[in-house]
Amino acid sequence: MGIIVPILTFVFLLLTRVSHADSKPRVILVGGSAASWKVPDSHDKTLNHWAETNRFKVGDILVWKYDAKVDSVLQVTKEDYASCNTTKPLKHFNDGDTKFELEHSGTYFFISGAPDHCVKGEKITILVLSERNIRGGSRGCSDDGSPPSKTPAPAPNAAGGLKVGSGVFLTAVVFGLAMA
Ligand SMILES: *[C@@H]1O[C@H](CO)[C@@H](O)[C@H](O)[C@H]1NC(C)=O
Repeated sequence: MGIIVPILTFVFLLLTRVSHADSKPRVILVGGSAASWKVPDSHDKTLNHWAETNRFKVGDILVWKYDAKVDSVLQVTKEDYASCNTTKPLKHFNDGDTKFELEHSGTYFFISGAPDHCVKGEKITILVLSERNIRGGSRGCSDDGSPPSKTPAPAPNAAGGLKVGSGVFLTAVVFGLAMA
């Protein structure tokens, strides 16, 4: 039985490392490239098309790169997003290298502060799912009370796979020892 403690310790350390790797903040360049914060070239190249191909998590850091002399980033309410109203943003950034941490789940709305840019499509909605939803919870409500819309299926994430794998491995080891 003396071997079980070292094995448990090893598995514990492994899982601890995995969960740390899992929670490291990701830095995400909005639009996927430095020149993305601009009026989109066409209707099928909007920033929201890009956003839909990404899954944002609490703790992720969004980064906007743009020419601070001609553009800015405003975090606004859903209403001001829809109407492109730039008069009272929740937050206003014009440093050309804007970083914004997604601190909680829910929906974030950003528009350009440059005249007419928002109405021409320079705007983005970021949906951040709660851990509950990412882990496959069935309720699918986001924290701002908006409808479940499209809750992506739980990702087969590497950490989860490893945890299950370790559990199976551990069970096999303990079972093997019991049989010996
Ligand atoms: C923009 O928002 C401000 C403050 O919320 C409001 O007073 C104003 O009427 C709005 N403008 C338009 C065009 O909706």
